[in-house]
Amino acid sequence: MNDEKIIITDMGASAGHESSGKTTLCLGIESSCDETSAAIVDSNRNILSHIIYSQIPEHQKYGGVVPELAARAHILAIDEVIKLTLERAGKTIDNIDVVAATAGPGLIGGVLVGWMAATGIANATGKPLVAVNHLEGHALVPRLKAASASDSSTNIDVEFPYLLMLASGGHCQILLVHGVGKYELVGQTLDDSAGEAFDKISKMLGLGYPGGPIVDKRAQLGDKKRFHFPRPLCDKPGCDFSFSGIKTAARMLLDKTPESDIDEKFINDFCASFQAAVVDCITNRLSNALHDERVIKAQPKTMVVAGGVAKNSAVRAAMEELAKKSNMLFAAPPMNLCTDNGAMIAWAGLENYKAGKIVREPVAPRPRWPLTEL
Ligand code: KG4
Ligand code: ZN
Repeated sequence: MNDEKIIITDMGASAGHESSGKTTLCLGIESSCDETSAAIVDSNRNILSHIIYSQIPEHQKYGGVVPELAARAHILAIDEVIKLTLERAGKTIDNIDVVAATAGPGLIGGVLVGWMAATGIANATGKPLVAVNHLEGHALVPRLKAASASDSSTNIDVEFPYLLMLASGGHCQILLVHGVGKYELVGQTLDDSAGEAFDKISKMLGLGYPGGPIVDKRAQLGDKKRFHFPRPLCDKPGCDFSFSGIKTAARMLLDKTPESDIDEKFINDFCASFQAAVVDCITNRLSNALHDERVIKAQPKTMVVAGGVAKNSAVRAAMEELAKKSNMLFAAPPMNLCTDNGAMIAWAGLENYKAGKIVREPVAPRPRWPLTEL
C-alpha cells in the first residue's frame, strides 16, 4: 500500500489534569480488529497525540471485517501510524517511558501485528512493555476521559469500584470494576453482543457496515412505537442478555412486509423500534444488577458505559437517567474514545505499568482473553 491509499485520522491532542512532578509517557498500539491506531498518553491524563487508520472502506464491500484483509492492512499501516504518533507529539522513542499494545482478545492476525511491533520496540530500546487486554482498554478509558450524556464538556473522575456496561461489537457484559486487573462478571450475553445486533439489523436493511452508527442515525428520525420487538429475558431475574430473538423478530417482520412498503419512513421506524428494544434490555439488566448482592456489597458510586455501543445517544441517555434515579453518577467516554482506539490502550498500559504489571517473559497473543482471567 502506498501512502496515498492510507487514510489516517489525526484525533489530535487533549489536555488532562495539571500536576507537578514527573509524568510517565506511554505509547499504546491497537490492532485487534479493523483500526490500526496508536497514541501517546501521559500520567496526567493528557493525550499528546492520537492517530487512527480505519480500514472500514476496505471491508465495507464485504459487509463486515474480513480477518485476512485486516491483518494485511495492519502490516501495511502500522509503521506509518507509529511514526506519525511520535511525530505529532513532538517526541522520539527515547522520550517514551512505557510501550503497550493489545495482546488480545481479537482477530489474531491483527493482534499479532501490533503486539510484534510493540515487542520489537521494547526489545530494541529496553523500555518496559505492557500486554494490554483490549477489553480492559475499553473498561479503563473512562478514567482517562469521561463525560456525562447531557454535557460532553465535563470531565468526570471515575473512581474504583464502578459498575460497567461494556457493549462492543464482540462483547456485552455487566462488570464490577474493582481496580486494574480486578473484574467481577455480573452478567453477559448468551448469544449476540449488542453491537453485533446493530450490525445485523443494518445488514438486513441493506444499510451498510458498521451498522451501529447508521441505525443510530436512522433511529433518531423514526417512531420507536411503530413496531414491537421482543425484550428477551427482561421478564426474568438476573443480569444476562440475549439479542438473537430481537434479530429473528426483525427478520420475520421484514419477510412479511411487501417490498413496496419498505420506504425511508419504514426503515427509520424499524431502526427506532429496534434500538428502543436494545435500550430497554440494557436498562432492565442494569436495574437488576443494582439489586445483585455483589453490586450492593461493592457499593459502586458510578455507572459507566464503554465500548462501541457507548456511542449510541439513546443508550447514553437511558443509562444516565437510570443512574440518576439510583443516586449514582454516570460517565461515558467521549465519542472518539468509545470505538477502538490507541488512546485507550495507552491509558490501560499506563495504569497496568503503575500497578507493576509489565511483561517479564514472552507473551503469546490471545484470540480469546476474558477480563476475569487477568
Ligand atoms: O468497541 P468496538 O469499536 O469494537 C469491538 O471491540 O468490538 O465496537 C464496535 C461496535 C460495532 O458493532 C458498531 O456497530 C457499534 O460498536 N457501534 C454502535 C454505534 N457506534 C458504533 N452501536 C450503536 N450505536 C452507535 N452509535
Ligand atoms: Zn473494542
